[in-house]
Amino acid sequence: MSFTKGKLIYEGKAKKIFTVQENENLIVHEFKNSLTAFNGEKKGEMLGKSRVNQKISSLLYKYLQKNGVPTHFIETLSDTEILTYKLEMIALEVVVRNVAAGSLTKRLGVEEGQEISPPLVEFYLKDDALGDPFLSDAQAIMLKLGTEDDLEELKRKALMINQLLFEIFEDMGLRLVDFKLEFGRDKDKAIVLGDEISPDTCRLWDIVTGEKMDKDRFRLDLGSVEEGYKEVLNRIENVLEVDS
Ligand code: TMP
Ligand code: ASP
Repeated sequence: MSFTKGKLIYEGKAKKIFTVQENENLIVHEFKNSLTAFNGEKKGEMLGKSRVNQKISSLLYKYLQKNGVPTHFIETLSDTEILTYKLEMIALEVVVRNVAAGSLTKRLGVEEGQEISPPLVEFYLKDDALGDPFLSDAQAIMLKLGTEDDLEELKRKALMINQLLFEIFEDMGLRLVDFKLEFGRDKDKAIVLGDEISPDTCRLWDIVTGEKMDKDRFRLDLGSVEEGYKEVLNRIENVLEVDS
């Protein structure tokens, strides 16, 4: 069946979302070249980022699906576009941490690089105006973002995804330090993984050199941002493309 891209329904910092004319349960995500950090305060552009992130995210979602994780992903439409199921998004950023970095080191004074075992799952409110604040489970329930059972399911799913991603990145010589997921509900109200997984939403360190390969290159002005993203894609293609 062919799909006709319909009207723009949402534009975020990294993607645009369009309707699909033939089916109201489907949407098209168009990846953008813009790079933002610190809640949009720092802005940049990386030519070709849309293509690289589309490819990285699509390969990872196919891998997760093959391993029993329900996701919104259906198929790649072009270098920069994917077709997905439309989800009713839950306004939570679900962060998983295997190694201390970023805001955790700033807030809790934990040294960067310290292993976190067992991995930590945290909820943040997805609200740019409020700066995506950290939420306790009780606060998430108070805001009606989910029931206690829903939050437990999100944590279970996030930890399962973490295990699958940690292993596959290890095979690529990359340490999965932390990452952010977003979930939504499908038409049957089941909780499904949405959004994207890319160097925009993960911290990935080279296992041998410790080099940062992700958006921290942009956040911290480390340089060679594009090279980092492309290297991550190369390694993912070497490990995952053979059987996708
Ligand atoms: P943090 O250390 O800034 O809390 O970030 C944890 C992880 O979540 C890191 O891999 C980057 C990712 N992340 C996003 O993808 N979007 C965001 O808005 C934030 C704050 C973090
Ligand atoms: N995603 C957020 C932004 O684009 C924060 C970050 O990733 O640093 O502003």
